[in-house]
Amino acid sequence: MASQRPRVFVTRRLPGDAVERLAAVAEVDVWPERLPPPSAELARRAADADGLLVLLTDRVDAALLDGCGHLRVVANMAVGYDNLDVGALTARGIPAGNTPGVLTESTAELTWALILAATRRVVEAERAIRRGEWVTWEPGFLLGHDLAGGTLGIVGFGKIGAAVARRARCFDLRVLAWTPRPKPVEGVEWVVLDELLARSDVVSVHCALTPTTKGLIDARALALMKPSAVLVNTARGPIVDQAALAGALRERRLFAAALDVVEREPIAPDDPLLSLDNCLVVPHIGSATVATRARMAAMAADNVLAGLRGERLPNCVNPEVYGQRPGQGRRPP
Ligand code: GLV
Repeated sequence: MASQRPRVFVTRRLPGDAVERLAAVAEVDVWPERLPPPSAELARRAADADGLLVLLTDRVDAALLDGCGHLRVVANMAVGYDNLDVGALTARGIPAGNTPGVLTESTAELTWALILAATRRVVEAERAIRRGEWVTWEPGFLLGHDLAGGTLGIVGFGKIGAAVARRARCFDLRVLAWTPRPKPVEGVEWVVLDELLARSDVVSVHCALTPTTKGLIDARALALMKPSAVLVNTARGPIVDQAALAGALRERRLFAAALDVVEREPIAPDDPLLSLDNCLVVPHIGSATVATRARMAAMAADNVLAGLRGERLPNCVNPEVYGQRPGQGRRPP
């Protein structure tokens, strides 16, 4: 007899007990590979799914949704959801969830690791040792910049930007911030973006990727920064114009950059950024701690489970979907 249990497609193996919790109420199909399911495979497996649990590497767009006749919920295991076509989901009455809050501190900690590594050339110094370049103590070898007494500029002041700002006090940094809707925060001076770029010794990017923020840090923005400044991006790659950044770093118009995210992930081994000593790139590991990734998976599973029950998702990115059908997205059959 055909199973009456709902079907859920999970696009990767997950940490913790998220899959077991889903399997208690649904037929769960877990993509077993390290790489994401190719789009045709995603479409094939999603076609009869009631719920999808996806990662930021999986694109959920109108074309995919058109092939999904039963879908009642999509949960993204990420706080950012630029991989989801939210308009297309809402138009079909499908609620979508994300995982805000749980990765704030982990991402802020990685941001500080990158700020410190870039300003003090930590990775470059370690590579120099491996090349046999540590021959003696030299007054001018591997000089970086001090943080104390300097200025940190935060572009986008959501939860993660605020968590990065809180830690700046320990480093004796003044904090400037730019965000479209500023609210008073002790110790933070709100400025327009151009002023932030011109005054900051470290610029750290924390806004969401939207059509407005795509390419926000372009050649013009980079030209406003001090030649001694450092750019850090732990948000989304396309917010920074990567070709313009490579040019600025190569010509030493910028001291250094540290990136957890790049325009196209994974970065190609022959990308110009990887040939520059003053550019540090890590593979999108902002939330990569044991505890945080387990919490993200649990939260994504909670969103799927709520969607399958026809309840409001605990963390919904398109609450307007509930306006279409009071109290609900698409109802269970
Ligand atoms: C990671 O980049 C996330 O958005 O959770």
